[in-house]
Amino acid sequence: MQKHITQITLIKPDDWHLHVRSGAALKSIVGMTAAQMGRAIIMPNLNPPVSNATQAHAYRQEILSALPKDSEFNPLMVLYLTDNTTPKDIQEALDNNVVAAKLYPAGATTNSDNGVTNITKLYPTLAYMQKLGMPLLLHGEVTRSDVDIFDREAVFIDEILSQVVHDFPELKIVFEHITTKEAVDFVLASHDKIAATITPHHLLANRNDMLVGGIKPHYFCLPILKRKNPHQSALLAAATSGNAKFFLGTDSAPHATTDKESACGCAGIFTAHCAIELYATVFERQNALHKLENFASKFGADFYNLPHNTQTITLHKQDWVIPANYPFANSTIVPFMATKTLSWKQLD
Ligand code: DOR
Ligand code: ZN
Repeated sequence: MQKHITQITLIKPDDWHLHVRSGAALKSIVGMTAAQMGRAIIMPNLNPPVSNATQAHAYRQEILSALPKDSEFNPLMVLYLTDNTTPKDIQEALDNNVVAAKLYPAGATTNSDNGVTNITKLYPTLAYMQKLGMPLLLHGEVTRSDVDIFDREAVFIDEILSQVVHDFPELKIVFEHITTKEAVDFVLASHDKIAATITPHHLLANRNDMLVGGIKPHYFCLPILKRKNPHQSALLAAATSGNAKFFLGTDSAPHATTDKESACGCAGIFTAHCAIELYATVFERQNALHKLENFASKFGADFYNLPHNTQTITLHKQDWVIPANYPFANSTIVPFMATKTLSWKQLD
């Protein structure tokens, strides 16, 4: 029956992991997310990072002023954890409507130089977050140079995450942008305060897409794309399982074309131009379109103890070609699946 579905209406989704940058770059792209999503968890890895309540408040104002006056998009702010973040910083953040705090292991990815060098230094801060019920968002990769880039997530689970979950049994944790079967299995085996986001690109692509037939910088992101089996397959099964621990987080991470097509290209895949259509494509292929709304519009809000959105969006079965690029500040950006055809399109 599902084959014949030509239109789907969903509660407006939310993006529980998004990079929108700042300044002219922000203005170029934030409207794409606002057109699809009710809310988004805004990543704080600016330069300098969003590491206190005042910065989070100013960044939220900047995002709102980059949107049309009648936009109802609600950016949810996140504190960037450093070695020096205190319980007082967490309290001030909470008092200023910051909803979560993000841990980047130092050096793991874009603008993570001020990240955490040793998680045990943050234990008093994590204890305070646990007390308040504020979720910890994790970039789950170790950064030691002796660990292979494809193994960094699995080693993070063994060396760090297992210990944190053990030491803070009540702490809410989102294991962000999971990429491996090990991560899926860990989340499944953990209690209900442990959840994970899954990106559209880790569902739709694997490392062959990045490397076979020539290196494709627009498929380079962190955590890096893994093997089809067992990893991509495990993510597809998890996302479409109907288990509320897995929900939508695009990790859309825009970089100018020239910064990607470079001898040292930046990590990040831009998916905000058609995030919900990408997920719809995945769920349709898995014969699970009827499970898309829970994954996209309910499970994340439930985890964050927020109400579901009251608006809806409608997607149409309709072929369209993704543009080769979009304007991005004074440059361009190459979107995920540029020039390829998608068969779902959001109605305006
Ligand atoms: O690919 C990525 N890009 N992974 C991250 O963790 C950060 C992001 C970015 O900010 O560009
Ligand atoms: Zn990210």
